[in-house]
Parts: sequence; C-alpha cells; structure tokens
Amino acid sequence: MAKLRVAVSGVGSLGQHHARIAAASERTELVAVVDPNETRGREIAEKFGTQWLATLAAALPQVDAVQIAAPTGFHHGLGISVLQAGKHVIMEKPLAATLVEGEALLTALAAARKAHPSLVAAVGHLERFNPAVQKLRELGFKPRFAEATRVSPFPMRSMEVDVIMDVMIHDLDLLLALFGKPVMSVEAVGIPVLTKYADVVNARLKFAGGGFATVTASRVARKKERTLRAFGENAYASLDFAAQKLEILRLMSGPEGPQIQPQTVDIVEGEPLKLELEAFYAACLGEGSDFVQWQEAFEAMRVADQVQQSVAASLKEMQG
Ligand SMILES: NC(=O)c1ccc[n+]([C@@H]2O[C@H](COP(=O)([O-])OP(=O)(O)OC[C@H]3O[C@@H](n4cnc5c(N)ncnc54)[C@H](O)[C@@H]3O)[C@@H](O)[C@H]2O)c1
Repeated sequence: MAKLRVAVSGVGSLGQHHARIAAASERTELVAVVDPNETRGREIAEKFGTQWLATLAAALPQVDAVQIAAPTGFHHGLGISVLQAGKHVIMEKPLAATLVEGEALLTALAAARKAHPSLVAAVGHLERFNPAVQKLRELGFKPRFAEATRVSPFPMRSMEVDVIMDVMIHDLDLLLALFGKPVMSVEAVGIPVLTKYADVVNARLKFAGGGFATVTASRVARKKERTLRAFGENAYASLDFAAQKLEILRLMSGPEGPQIQPQTVDIVEGEPLKLELEAFYAACLGEGSDFVQWQEAFEAMRVADQVQQSVAASLKEMQG
C-alpha cells in the first residue's frame, strides 16, 4: 500500500519526536520537516534522513498530512493553511491559543470537509493513548469523583501560555472523556510564581449528573508527578501516567463478608506519542478512526477557559 506522505511543522522539544516516529513508521514517508529556525530544522532533517523546509507552504504540495508541533500561538494560522490545502492534520495540544482561534479552526474544518469529507483532523491529547488510561477505559470504569495531579519542575519553555492551557488541559480532556458528561461549573484558584501567568492552579469541576473532580497543575515543583485517582461505585482506581501503572481496588463480597480486593491489571507498555501517531496515520489511510477530534479538544479548551476566568477572579479578590 502507498505510504502516507507527512511533514512535521515545528521540530523543537516535542516536534523532534514527531519526526522520529514519522521517519520510523511503516505507514509513512517523512517528506520534510518545517521550522523557521534553519539550524534546528537542518539538524533534525539530517538526523531523520529528510529535507528541511523553511515554510509550510513549500511542504503542502508534497504531502498528504501534516503534524503540527509549533508553539501554540501558531496553531491557528498553520491549521488553516493545512485545511485550505485539503490535507490531513494532527495538531499538538492545546488545539489553539484562544477560544476565538479554536472556533475559527472548527469553522475552517467544517468548510474543508465539504470538499474533502474524509479529512482527518486530530489533536495530540496523548494521555488518551497512555496504555494505563486505555486500560481504565476498556474496563468501563465510571468515576463519580476524581483527583488529577500534574506537577513538574519549570520547563523553561511554553512561557507564553499559563499552566492551565499548557499542562492542565491534558487532565481536562481526559476527565471529560472519562466522565462522559459536560462540565457544569468550575471553581479555581491559582497564582503566577515564575511567569506573568498562573503557574500553580487548583480547580474543582462539577459534571452534569453530579460527578466531581479536583485538578491540580503546577510547573513550580521539585519533582514530576502525574497521577489520577478515581472513585466509582464500590471501586477505586489509582493511575500513574509516567509509570503506566493502574491499580484497581474493588469492594467484593467474600465468604467472611465484604472485602476490598485488588484487581490485577496487565498493561502492555507503549510510547503514548507513537501510539497516538500510528492511530492518526491509520485513520488517514482509512484503516481506523481512533483519534481525538478537534471538537473534543475544543471542549477541553472551553473548560480551561472557565478555569482561567475563575483564577483571574480569585487573583483579583486576593489583590483586594
Ligand atoms: N502533547 C504533549 O504532551 C506536549 C508536550 C510538549 C509540547 N506540546 C505542544 O507542542 C507544541 C510545541 O511545544 P514545544 O515544547 O516542542 O516547543 P519548542 O519551543 O521546544 O519548539 C517549537 C519549534 O517550533 C518552531 N517554530 C516556531 N514558529 C514556527 C512556525 N511558524 N512554523 C513551524 N515551526 C515553528 C521553533 O523554531 C521550534 O523549533 C506546543 O503547542 C505545546 O503545547 C505538547
């Protein structure tokens, strides 16, 4: 079968991994890497045996799909160009920098799909492809309350966005998928510590149907921690994203009465980004449909926006 011809737009910290995976996949041919930084572009192109191009416009006529891993502020403009060329696209998270830009992307996608109905437009919410998360969803675990924590030392990049759009968005997307219900209300607090944007945030979300979640995101921590604890009917799930570990404890009735029993969960480890990109390539080739839709990523942005508004209100209150 013909290979999917792809380009990676933006080959910085994350984009280099997009290029590595595209270069190694049996489904794809990495036609080009695109980056305005020539030194970086040439370095990555050479490493993965492809050409460097300075602009997306030069790459579009040569490809079937584009992987966008440029800084978030460029997602809107690059996404529109790819759609206007009628090519498949996977956009790194968050879908866009603002709700207005996100909405414009959804409008452009609807227009592009009129001419190209099978156009694939995915978003890189890669935790959905974390094997531990996939197992939790496969088991049909329905949380009624969840606590998500995602903290790390300061990355020295992504300084143009707050920790909500940069980091918390992963958990917002995941919680929306796990609860399967819209968020009805948001209450949040957060403060800037190292940038002019909120660097530490705690939010409490109320879902339709009465579910609750608390979400903590920080880029001012000594160590990385990425965990989810979810509580359902007679069951508790504890998930470590980095270790790809999932523990489930269930209340069972035993011969001596009720017992709390750990459920053994076998997980086949895998690189979430690779699993996500392979699913995207398969979808573009008409072999599957397992990807995060732009509309879903926009819903996560909408909740992130509510968190931002609540944080702004709490900061105002703090400042008296
Ligand atoms: N899914 C995840 O877990 C995850 C993790 C990290 C970053 N990200 C997302 O990936 C994106 C990139 O983040 P990063 O940390 O790799 O940033 P980075 O700053 O390390 O790299 C960005 C690269 O894009 C290039 N670039 C700048 N303008 C460009 C343009 N107009 N067109 C093409 N390339 C351009 C830069 O020269 C740089 O090489 C962001 O949207 C970020 O939110 C996602």
